[in-house]
This record gives sequence, C-alpha cells and structure tokens, in this order.
Amino acid sequence: MTTFKALLLSKIGTDTGNSFTSNVIDIEDTQQPEEGDVIVRIDYSTINYKDALAITNKSPIVRKWPLVAGIDGAGVVESSNHPKWKVGDKVIMNGFGVGESHWGCLAQRAKLKGDWLVKLPDSFTTKQAMAIGTAGYTAMLCCLALENHGVKRGQGEILVTGASGGVGSVAISILSSWGYEVVASTGKVHEAAYLKSLGAKEVIDRAALSQVGKPLQKERWAGVVDSVGSHTLVNACAQTKYRGVVAACGLAQGADFPATVMPFILRGVVLAGVDSVYQPLAVREEAWARLATDLDRTKLDTITTIISLTESISKSVDVLAGNIRGRLVVDVNR
Ligand SMILES: NC(=O)c1ccc[n+]([C@@H]2O[C@H](COP(=O)([O-])OP(=O)(O)OC[C@H]3O[C@@H](n4cnc5c(N)ncnc54)[C@H](OP(=O)(O)O)[C@@H]3O)[C@@H](O)[C@H]2O)c1
Repeated sequence: MTTFKALLLSKIGTDTGNSFTSNVIDIEDTQQPEEGDVIVRIDYSTINYKDALAITNKSPIVRKWPLVAGIDGAGVVESSNHPKWKVGDKVIMNGFGVGESHWGCLAQRAKLKGDWLVKLPDSFTTKQAMAIGTAGYTAMLCCLALENHGVKRGQGEILVTGASGGVGSVAISILSSWGYEVVASTGKVHEAAYLKSLGAKEVIDRAALSQVGKPLQKERWAGVVDSVGSHTLVNACAQTKYRGVVAACGLAQGADFPATVMPFILRGVVLAGVDSVYQPLAVREEAWARLATDLDRTKLDTITTIISLTESISKSVDVLAGNIRGRLVVDVNR
C-alpha cells in the first residue's frame, strides 16, 4: 500500500455546529477520488489568496468535504490514461475548481484530469512555475487584457494595486519588462525598494485610493491592474484617462464595487474582468508562453519564499492579514 502526504481540509457536522480541521496527513493512494485520468507526482504547489481562504475556512471556497487543498501544482506525470500525456511529462495545474470542488495539489500526489493540464514550458523548472502560480498567471492575463485592449507604451502610467502581493508583484515585473511606466500602490510603503527593484518607477500609499472618492477625478492612468476591488477599484476607474483600460481580477479590499457609470460613459474607460479558473486552454497556453519569454527570472527569485506543507497552514493566516510579500511556494516533499 502506497501513501502520500497531503493537506486535508475536513468539516464534520452541520452548518451551524460544525468543526473544521486543516491537517497534513498520510493518505492512501486508493483513497483518491476516481475522477482524474492522470496521476501527477507534485514537486511544488503554492499558497494563493484563495488557498489561504480555503485553508483557514474564512470563505466558502471548498465545495466538497473532505478535500485536499491547493489550486495550483507543478510536477511530473506518474501514470496516464489520457492520450495527451505520458509518463515523465512535466505539467502545470491551475484552477478548474481544483482545490475547491476537486482534490488539489497541496499534496505529494494528485489525480487530475488530463484536459486541465498545461505543458510546463521547457525554460521553466516546476519550482519557477509555482513561484508564478495562479497569481502570476492571472497577472499575465491582466497584462494581456491591457495589451489586447490597445494600451500602448508611452500613453501614460499604469497603476498596479495590491502591489506587494502575488498578482501585483508579477504584474509590475511583466509591465516594466514590456516598457510601461508602472506606479505601485501598496499598504507596505516600507517595501518601496522591493517594488522599485521589480520595476515600479513610483510607489504610492494605498490609503490614497482606498476611501470613498469623487465619481470622476483627475485623469492619470492609461491602464490599471487591480487585485483589490472595492473603493480602490472605483477610484482607479475614476482616475483612468480617456479610453484607458482597467483590468480587475481581485477583492483583497472587498468584493463590493460602489461606483458610478461616469468613467465608462464620459471617458470611454474599459473595465476588463479577468478570471483565471475557467480560461480556455489556448488562452492559458498563451499566458504561460508569454511568462516563459517575458518574465525576468531574477525578479521571480526575489519575490519567492519556499515553505513546507505544514507551514502552509500558519502562512495562510499571514496571507489573509496582508503580511506576505510576493509569492509563497510550497515544497510538498520538505
Ligand atoms: N480572478 C481570478 O481568477 C483571480 C486569480 C488570482 C487572484 N485573484 C484575486 O486577486 C487578489 C490578490 O491575489 P494574490 O494572490 O495576489 O493575493 P496576495 O498575495 O495575498 O496579495 C494581496 C495584496 O492585496 C493588498 N491588500 C490586502 N488587504 C488589503 C486591503 N484591505 N485593502 C487594500 N489592499 C489590500 C496587499 O498588498 P499591499 O500591502 O501591497 O497593498 C496584499 O499583499 C485576491 O483577491 C485573489 O482572490 C483572482
């Protein structure tokens, strides 16, 4: 009988009187759900904001109990009944409800659907892929949204909110490497040197954006990558230039959007929503290919901290408190 280590989330009882547990335990291979057709030996996983919500049970992310956590994983195919994948292939898993309604990748082994997997670009290690993870891949989707909606270098500054977080850190790195002038909005102004090392030309205090503001404000941004939502997103739209583009992917401040339509109907501002979970394969492959060619690996090392499977539990609390800088990569074999 073979076993593997995994971070298992369990809930026993009713909605009103339940007990939630989050533990690293040994699971027998035979206990894995039947739904996958590829078994992947996971090298690395990661803690995204959504993982932190699931691991601490702070939000109803988990749809099926018990569940192995982890929306991201990178590793090597151990066995496959899927025509696209063979033993030894290196793969990346992001989204598709893995770590939410399907067993996830904060584990030494994961049984996944071959249709969900993306080939690891040759130039990346599995560790680098998880230093990027869903946060970094979503950052690329946001940057591509600006590019696809026609935001060009030289048209003005690009605002990145939640700058010291995973999405924010990678977005700054990508946009600066593409030649855009990036302004980083952060609650950690003491991290200004870090944000500038990633490519921000200016760092602003997020307090300037997080309160109620006027529906239309002085035009400043040619584009915005927002992972924060709420008043920050509203103010970012209100400060976006005529025909500018705001890519919105997150809710670190809040899921509310207490806005007026003024920026959209008077300035033609485009609000581009970005989802990473159910993007079609072709879009995923494009995003990963652009990450492989455009992302500076030395910057990736700067933003990454490696932790163990067990440390994932305590670090999730820090993620939700906004105390983490950059990306947490989980070495599932440590
Ligand atoms: N749409 C999608 O498919 C998708 C994919 C990935 C992530 N997301 C979402 O994007 C957001 C960021 O994800 P992430 O992985 O980058 O998380 P993260 O690493 O935890 O970063 C979030 C950052 O937001 C800022 N922040 C935290 N609390 C805040 C508050 N109350 N008000 C304003 N800013 C606050 C902090 O940056 P500073 O201290 O620098 O301000 C923090 O580092 C999350 O809401 C996540 O759910 C969505």
